[in-house]
Amino acid sequence: MSLDIVILAAGQGTRMRSALPKVLHPIAGQPMLAHVLQTARSLKPSSIQVVVGHGADLVREQLAADDVSFVVQKEQLGTGHAVAQAIPHLKAQNTLVLYGDVPLIESATLESMLKHLTADSMTLLTVNLVNPAGYGRIVRNSTGVVQAIVEHKDATPDQLKICEGNTGILAAPREQLIDWLGRLSNSNAQGEYYLTDIIAMAVADGLCVATETATDAMDVQGANDRQQLSELERHYQQRAARRLMAQGVTLLDPARFDVRGEVSVGRDVLIDVNVILEGRVEIADNVSIGPNCVIKDSILRAGAVIKANSHLEGADVGEGADCGPFARLRPGTVLAARAHVGNFVELKNTRLGEAAKAGHLTYLGDSDIGARTNIGAGTITCNYDGANKFKTVMGDDVFIGSNSSLVAPLSLGDGATTGAGSTITTDVPAQALAVGRGRQRILENWARPKKL
Ligand code: UD1
Ligand code: CA
Repeated sequence: MSLDIVILAAGQGTRMRSALPKVLHPIAGQPMLAHVLQTARSLKPSSIQVVVGHGADLVREQLAADDVSFVVQKEQLGTGHAVAQAIPHLKAQNTLVLYGDVPLIESATLESMLKHLTADSMTLLTVNLVNPAGYGRIVRNSTGVVQAIVEHKDATPDQLKICEGNTGILAAPREQLIDWLGRLSNSNAQGEYYLTDIIAMAVADGLCVATETATDAMDVQGANDRQQLSELERHYQQRAARRLMAQGVTLLDPARFDVRGEVSVGRDVLIDVNVILEGRVEIADNVSIGPNCVIKDSILRAGAVIKANSHLEGADVGEGADCGPFARLRPGTVLAARAHVGNFVELKNTRLGEAAKAGHLTYLGDSDIGARTNIGAGTITCNYDGANKFKTVMGDDVFIGSNSSLVAPLSLGDGATTGAGSTITTDVPAQALAVGRGRQRILENWARPKKL
């Protein structure tokens, strides 16, 4: 079966009260429309047509991709009119309609729905609702066969009692769909060309209208205002949390855990509360992440321990290495196996060797640090002269005394030592001690100044 997918995304989203087009509002850090596109792609369609209108340029700019075409709907004259804009681009046997503001629809649901599709049937996704207000109602005859969809504003009091609502998501054979769209009228309560009117036409043409019912109403919920947006965000996060727990992660509180990207996990991972994972995060077996950590685009290898309030971006934390509390690992940080980074330590573009330590209050930038090297508290690599960045290289078993300033470019050989409080400006040979500070003097019987 070949399939074109049409995604409706032209609406303004007035109730968002926003300068941003509705479909660009984020769920888990990605525009709603990006989620729909991802799901659409998973169905391997022949084409994806996005119908844009309000904020069309911005939507196109943010979501342009080789496999996505944009069709402009100049005036928003209704969902049927919106789908009709894509007609010239429909080539496949069947057409599936999705919505840019219904971001959490799952591909498995769509696949089940599409199974009902044949040359003489169309299919739609319905949802059973406790409060169906606002939704189009699925009208069935006495034997349960779908007859029509009636919009809330056009429904009779009896029809308003129907609790089976239209999600809006449907699929139909292209040729019939094009024929029905051409026959839509806007003589209804809203003066719009309703996509939903094609159901009665399908019935009249003798097609079977098959339905699939969503198992969770939140999966097919649209976001019309910020309240609904926040509900969808929570639903997304609950799903993500459940998926990770199923894979062997202990989440101390799934309600206080956020994923904004793609996460892979090993077994026996422990994640404390208020952790945010962003971008691509790989977490191996037996990793433990303390409370209030933000971890973006990073790799945490087996047994790594990230302690409370740490912020990692573009970091590779080696096996059994640990960092924090209050560590900041910036892009290009590599902690080799069993390396230790303590509190208030910032690393950028730096490799800390195997079992090397930087325990306290330190900045290490553009550095390559050997195995077992110990960086004393308050050490600063002076890697930037205001115009250029320079590198600091340390061998194995180096000992940097506390409060050292290491002025790059600089290299320190294996086993080198620097005295506390030194400003080191020239290379230090292996096994040597470098002291770069004023020599201490003792003035005996020092008379302190007296108040005048
Ligand atoms: C629609 C359905 C209704 C269903 C409900 C589910 C119709 C006529 N009604 O109603 O049966 O229960 O969705 O939420 O289809 N859009 C465009 N161009 C337009 C009009 C709409 O792109 O000219 C887009 C909107 O941006 C929105 C979506 O289509 O993403 C739905 O439009 P909306 O006006 O919200 O339809 P509803 O009245 O909610
Ligand atoms: Ca709507």
